[in-house]
Amino acid sequence: MKLESIFICLLLAPCLVFGANYANVVLYSGAVCNSPVKSTLSYLEGECIGTSIYSCNFQNNILTISDYEDIDCKNWSFNSTFSFNNCQNPNIQTTMSCSQGLPSMSNSYQYLTFESCENTETDPISAQTVSINQCINNGMNTYYYTCNSTSLIYSSYGPDSSSQGDSSTDCNPNSLLSTYSFPLKTPSCHSNGVATMYTCDY
Ligand SMILES: *[C@@H]1O[C@H](CO)[C@@H](O)[C@H](O)[C@H]1NC(C)=O
Ligand SMILES: *[C@@H]1O[C@H](CO)[C@@H](O)[C@H](O)[C@H]1NC(C)=O
Ligand SMILES: *[C@@H]1O[C@H](CO)[C@@H](O)[C@H](O)[C@H]1NC(C)=O
Repeated sequence: MKLESIFICLLLAPCLVFGANYANVVLYSGAVCNSPVKSTLSYLEGECIGTSIYSCNFQNNILTISDYEDIDCKNWSFNSTFSFNNCQNPNIQTTMSCSQGLPSMSNSYQYLTFESCENTETDPISAQTVSINQCINNGMNTYYYTCNSTSLIYSSYGPDSSSQGDSSTDCNPNSLLSTYSFPLKTPSCHSNGVATMYTCDY
């Protein structure tokens, strides 16, 4: 456990397990900062993830993304900097920020990725936080995520025959195509050596 996590555990109950810093890419359902958050991608500070390393400057509220030419982050290519929570451009739907610990959001599931299958008690290297309990139509599919105490449940829906003239659906139970469930808090090991796990805040 990192020093920050121990510190937070001493100060707060219940103890925050994930105390490291994360860079967050926040995707909104419409124009930034005045519409609900759809999902957040979080990356552990200082790790080589993809071909990038994320650095948080909490003094100046700046996130720096250092891009490299290689997946080991050896040959530096360029830096990009982003002010936290910049809402100045209403045409974009994302903001950047940093947080101490993984961001949490009620009514969401989290898909955590750990660096190694051997240890899933560490800080995840990345996380996806996605809102649940709403019908999503992304232009190709209509689906709904929800959770019970043991599973994240995905349901996909076909065109709704009862909605006249409107080809979109409202996740009507009559047009349910399929469901799939993912066990919560159960790490699964992947062939590339990383482990992933679902959690849910519902
Ligand atoms: C890194 O840069 C060096 C020098 O330019 C080059 O020889 C090497 O092939 C590069 N390595 C990768 C992984 O890009
Ligand atoms: C790129 O960003 C890293 C992390 O903030 C920093 O250490 C480095 O000095 C930066 N490099 C340049 C050339 O700005
Ligand atoms: C949660 O949902 C899954 C998938 O539908 C189901 O198999 C399981 O029994 C449910 N668990 C509870 C506690 O209701």
